[in-house]
Amino acid sequence: MKTNTIQNLEGFSGTILIPVFETYAKSLVPIEFHGISVHSKVFYGKKDTHYVVEKYDCTHIFIGLGAAIDYKSLKTTFRRISAKQKDLLGTTVALVLPEQFTVEQVEATISGLLLGTYDLGHFKKTDKHPFLNDDFELSILSKNDFIETTNKALKIAKAQLEILNLVDLPPNVVTPKYLSNWANETGKKFGFEVETLGFEASKKAGLGAFLSVGKGSENEPQFVIMNYYPKNANAKTKHVGLVGKGITFDTGGLNIKTAGMVHMKCDMAGGAAVFGAMQLISDLKLPVKVTAIVPCAENSVDSKSFLPSDVIHSYAGHSIEIIDTDAEGRLILADGLSYLIKNFKPEYIVDIATLTGSAVGTFGYECAALFTNNEAISKKLQESGDAIGERLWQLPLWDSYKSDIESDIADVKNYSGKPFAGAISAAKFLEYFTEEHKAWAHLDIAGVAFGDDEFAKSKHATAYGVHLLTKFIENL
Ligand code: BES
Ligand code: ZN
Ligand code: ZN
Repeated sequence: MKTNTIQNLEGFSGTILIPVFETYAKSLVPIEFHGISVHSKVFYGKKDTHYVVEKYDCTHIFIGLGAAIDYKSLKTTFRRISAKQKDLLGTTVALVLPEQFTVEQVEATISGLLLGTYDLGHFKKTDKHPFLNDDFELSILSKNDFIETTNKALKIAKAQLEILNLVDLPPNVVTPKYLSNWANETGKKFGFEVETLGFEASKKAGLGAFLSVGKGSENEPQFVIMNYYPKNANAKTKHVGLVGKGITFDTGGLNIKTAGMVHMKCDMAGGAAVFGAMQLISDLKLPVKVTAIVPCAENSVDSKSFLPSDVIHSYAGHSIEIIDTDAEGRLILADGLSYLIKNFKPEYIVDIATLTGSAVGTFGYECAALFTNNEAISKKLQESGDAIGERLWQLPLWDSYKSDIESDIADVKNYSGKPFAGAISAAKFLEYFTEEHKAWAHLDIAGVAFGDDEFAKSKHATAYGVHLLTKFIENL
């Protein structure tokens, strides 16, 4: 989607989007715009309402914002107009930006409009959204210059659209190889380096915990390593490490899932968030060095699958007793974290994963679970999330939980065997592989990566984390 700025509506014909802050249900003063008078009886800017008026060769869509509106609601409002009023959006569309709109509000509005082009019917014969036509240009009517903000908003939505695709496409399409190909192509396009270790290279490197998970699958595991170097990087340039869980499908392995397996194509959503963040960070040319690792594998059922009670050997040299093959995410993340720390030594580390049902049990679909021993990082992550409606809430990493991962036969075990505090013991397991790094955070996004909303009948991707990780890095 391209955009241009206009000063007035003279000579304009097409669709005009007019955001309106709430007035008053019984207001005697009508809303006046472009020679149109809208009485409060039919529309007064109430949140989640809109009103269409056809006049002067133009379709006017008045869009209610309520008295005050947060970033996420604003984005959803415009995603809704773009997705559900598609038939009213012809080849020429103008967006009116209210004078009081902040930079953030402009960003949310434009991002929302582009996100509204997302269509879950990947395998259906459907018409292209008008905004996706090559020659489509959105005219922005504003007194202020929002060109930079507009471009940023489009980049954010573009990265999020990529990730919606990756997560919603089925696991017979999105295999580990598909993800490493995506990373290679995107790296070339946006300017970050990509190296992938397949089965043989991972074996040679000693990524034993990672490889044990993919053993039962026909699809070769791929350990994807990405590096983004900003221009003019120097000794003072900050260095962030990201690790994302890239399980393309989680059957549970031999501890096969008895509930919810149908949703488990979402188990690479943490990895996808890291991929999306890499695209966005390089697209925005952020002045921070970023190393990102996404171990990609499929957790399948087969005679070659790893077994409950197996003892495996991780990259860091720690032995792990497998209590449950469904606790596979922490195994691939353990090797991801160890590889990152040993080979790249980043100053800050964030891992992100659809790790536990326990995180869903604790927070439902409202926020991700955050674990860290670094208060400054905790604050930065929470502030970044609050600003864009991708919320986080912190849970403890107390050492009293350490006994949950103590094994008799090996250095650690992958599951406590207890039906409680599952998100915390998973985080303690990961912590064991962080070499006491002083600035590590773990985000369990099992409840927020894949959900129900007004845009589809079934659960689908949310792209949670793409913007959050990018904003966190931007705010460092
Ligand atoms: N992929 C799941 C976690 C999950 C649950 C993701 C719900 C998205 C939605 C993870 O690999 C898993 O199976 N976790 C188990 C661990 C248990 C066996 C120790 C869980 O949380 O039940
Ligand atoms: Zn699992
Ligand atoms: Zn999983």
